[in-house]
Amino acid sequence: MPTRDIAVARTVAALREAVAAWRGRQERVGLVPTMGALHRGHLALVEAAHRQCQRVVASLFVNPKQFGPREDFTAYPRDEAADLAKFRQGGVDLVFAPTVAEMYPGGFATTVQVGGIGDALEGAHRPGHFDGVATVVSKLLLQCLPDAAYFGEKDYQQLLVVRRMARDLDIPVRIEGVPTVREPDGLALSSRNVYLSPEERQVAPSLYRVLNDTAAAIGAAPASIATNLDKGLAALRQAGFVPDYLELRDAADLSPMSALDHPARLLTAALLGRTRLIDNIPVMPR
Ligand code: PAJ
Repeated sequence: MPTRDIAVARTVAALREAVAAWRGRQERVGLVPTMGALHRGHLALVEAAHRQCQRVVASLFVNPKQFGPREDFTAYPRDEAADLAKFRQGGVDLVFAPTVAEMYPGGFATTVQVGGIGDALEGAHRPGHFDGVATVVSKLLLQCLPDAAYFGEKDYQQLLVVRRMARDLDIPVRIEGVPTVREPDGLALSSRNVYLSPEERQVAPSLYRVLNDTAAAIGAAPASIATNLDKGLAALRQAGFVPDYLELRDAADLSPMSALDHPARLLTAALLGRTRLIDNIPVMPR
């Protein structure tokens, strides 16, 4: 696939220069942060940015700070040429692809930590993960200074952590959420799906099925939220997952819910073999 026609900035200075020229012409700039290994989910964020902005910047950076010591930073799928070709096809105006040294030069010492929203669920199971996300995303927002930045609902807690961080730090950007893109069988697209064996790939859509079944059961019997969550966990184990959590949380701030009296989110994370999958869906009160 030809990649020669896409502009790539490797330094913060080159990124700032390009964005400043666009903003000087009153063009709206959208930023799509990614770690590459691109799929249609990432490209849906690019499309959402195009609908609202004249210029779209995508970042491509596998951020070491958001991986735990036993996680897959080294093994994370990387194919820059393929990613640049996909961004080009998506009409991205500029790809920001810095080195680790450009993002975290010697002496780098600052961590952005978002309390509350970042503590539970993924935060509890992946200590330090959201500190790494909040740190790199605050840097990307301040480096690019876009009008809006786009994040997938696939990583719902990440979306809320980033929104909280941008508000708390008065970063003048709109944080936009984009619905999850799925395979026809319901599996949420993820760069980590390539880790699944053919057998695991057959089982993987059960995660979404259990989310939907559990949401339907809670909708039908809102008084028995805990019982239905337990049933959902049992169904995940039955299908072959080792679940980390299946929880109903307030859709706005992820606080625990004892009654379905306002918009909620049903969130799950589960291991399938060695691959950790996460997913979530909205649950509305009747
Ligand atoms: P990455 O996993 O590459 O995801 C980049 C963006 O794509 C995130 O906002 C994610 O929620 C979104 N995304 C992934 N799969 C999706 C799907 N199936 N449908 C819709 N959107 C999807 O998330 C990260 O990178 C990093 O944490 C990052 C924000 C770039 C910070 O390093």
